[in-house]
Amino acid sequence: MTDVQQQPAPVMSQADIFPHHSHVTRDMRNQQVGHRSGVIWLTGLSGAGKSTIATQVELELFREGFLVSVLDGDTMRSGLNCDLDFTRQARMENLRRAGEVASLFAMMGYIVLATFISPHHEGRRFVRNIVRKNFHLVHVRASLEDCIQRDPKGLYQKALSGDIANFTGISQAYEEPQDAELKIDTTSHTLPLCTAQLKNFIKDNFLLT
Ligand SMILES: Nc1ncnc2c1ncn2[C@@H]1O[C@H](COP(=O)(O)OP(=O)(O)OP(=O)(O)O)[C@@H](O)[C@H]1O
Ligand SMILES: [Mg+2]
Repeated sequence: MTDVQQQPAPVMSQADIFPHHSHVTRDMRNQQVGHRSGVIWLTGLSGAGKSTIATQVELELFREGFLVSVLDGDTMRSGLNCDLDFTRQARMENLRRAGEVASLFAMMGYIVLATFISPHHEGRRFVRNIVRKNFHLVHVRASLEDCIQRDPKGLYQKALSGDIANFTGISQAYEEPQDAELKIDTTSHTLPLCTAQLKNFIKDNFLLT
C-alpha cells in the first residue's frame, strides 16, 4: 500500500453541497393561495398567551383557506430538539433550528406562527436574520402577576419554590422587545380581541391584492 492509500478520504464540506432548486417557486405557491408566506414570531413570558392566540388564529385562518401552521416551542423540544437542554448555547441552537424550520415552511408557502418565549434581544435578532424574508416579531405581553396567576403549566409555582432554575420572569430576565412589529396586550384585552388583532395584522401584511 502507498502512503496516499493509507490517508483517510477527506470528509465532505459545505463546498460539496449543491441545493437542487424546485421548479415551483415560493412566488408561484403564494400566487396560488392568494397570500404571501412568512413567519410571525410570537415572543413573550410563559403564560402570556402566545399558544392560545396562535392556535385560535391558525384555526380561523385555516377555515378561511389560508395555508397556516403553528410551530410551537414545546413541540419542537419534544421532537427535533429533544437533545437540547437549557444552557445558553442550547437555547441558541433551539432557536437556530426553529428559525430554519420556520424558514422551510415559509418557502413551502406557509404562514408560520412561531411561539417561543425567546427572552433575549440576541436570540430574536438571530432568528430574524435566519428567516429574513417576511419576518414579523409580535410581542404577546402580559403582566408578570397575570402570568403567575394563570400559570397554565404549573411552571411558575415550580420556579417560585426553587424547583426550576433560570425561569424567565422569575430567575431570568425577559428583555422587552424594542423592535416588535405588533404588540398584543393580553392583560388589558380579551382573547377574541387579541385574536382579531393578530388576524388583522396578518391580513394587512400577507394578503395579495
Ligand atoms: N387575552 C388573552 N389572550 C390569550 N390568553 C389568555 C388571555 N386571557 C387569559 N388567557 C389565558 O392565559 C393562558 C395563556 O397560556 P398559553 O399556554 O397560551 O401561554 P404561552 O405564552 O404559550 O406560554 P408558554 O411560553 O409557557 O408556552 C391561557 O390559560 C389562556 O386561557
Ligand atoms: Mg405556549
